[in-house]
Amino acid sequence: MRQFTEDTLTDEVVARLEDVKDPRFKQLMTSLIQNLHAFAKDVELTEEEWFEAIKFLTAVGQKCDGKRQEFILLSDVLGLSMMTVAINHKTEPGATEATVLGPFYAHGAREFGYGGDLREGATLKGEDVWVSGRVMSVDGTPIPGAMLDIWQAKADGIYDLQTDGEFELRGRVKANEKGEYAFKSYKPKFYSIPIDGPVGDLVRATGNHHMRPAHMHAIVSAPGYQQVITHVFVEGDPYLDGDAVFAVKDSLIAKYERLADADAKKLGLPAGSLRLDFDFRLSADKAGAKQARQKIAASDAVA
Ligand SMILES: [Fe+2]
Repeated sequence: MRQFTEDTLTDEVVARLEDVKDPRFKQLMTSLIQNLHAFAKDVELTEEEWFEAIKFLTAVGQKCDGKRQEFILLSDVLGLSMMTVAINHKTEPGATEATVLGPFYAHGAREFGYGGDLREGATLKGEDVWVSGRVMSVDGTPIPGAMLDIWQAKADGIYDLQTDGEFELRGRVKANEKGEYAFKSYKPKFYSIPIDGPVGDLVRATGNHHMRPAHMHAIVSAPGYQQVITHVFVEGDPYLDGDAVFAVKDSLIAKYERLADADAKKLGLPAGSLRLDFDFRLSADKAGAKQARQKIAASDAVA
C-alpha cells in the first residue's frame, strides 16, 4: 500500500515496526505513535499549531546546556515526572516516599561526616538549622554508613547551578555507625522554577503559578537497600497545596522547630537557630533499585 488516509495511516506506521528486535522498544514506539496520532486526530491539529509545537520543543532543547535542563523542567510541569515516579515507586509501607529529582541535581558534591557544615562557602546567609535523623530499614534497623546526597536552593531561592558560582548548600553526608546523620544548613525557602525560558512561557500561557514550596532534596542510598530520591518539605509553607511540579507528599512534610539556645551553642550555632528531625527508611534492595540508579546516571548531563 502506498497511499494512506486518516483512518489507515496509524496502522501502517506501526506495521513498519514489525522487525524491531527489542520487544520493549517496539512496545514503547507502538504506543507512542498510536497516542500521538490519536492526539492529533482528537484536537484536529492544524499545521500552524504543530509548527508552533516544533518551535517550542526546539527552544526547550536550545535552552539546555551543562547546567540548565529545560526538558526535565518541562517533564516536571507537565506532571510526567511525578507520573513516572508514581508508576515506578510503589512505596513499601513504612518506607520513605519518592518524589521528583528536579533539574538541579549535580554529581560530585563534597562529602561530609556527622555534623558537617553545608553552609561553608555560602554566598548568602539564611536561617541556621541543625538537620538530623536516622537512616533505617523499614523495620527500624539502623543502616550504618548510609549516604545522603543533599541539595537545596540558596536563601534567594536560586540554585548554585543557576549561577556561575561554586557548589553551594550541597553535600554528600555520611551517616555514622549507628545510622545517624546530622549537618548544618539553612532553612529552605519557597522559590520559583526557572521561568526565563520556554517552560516559563508555557506556565504563563496556562495561567498556572510557577512556585515550589520550600524543600531540601535528598537522595538516600546504602548497599543492600533501594535508593530513594526525595524531598523534605517545610510544614506551613504557603505553596504546599499548589506545587508547580506536583511533587508534595504528606509524609515528606516536616516541622522546623526552634533549637534551645544552650543546644545551639553546643552545636556551634547562633541563638535562635532551628532544628529539623527527619528519619529516612529504605526498602531492601531488589531488581527495581538498579533502575533508579540508572536514572541518576542518565542525569549526568546536568552536572
Ligand atoms: Fe528544588
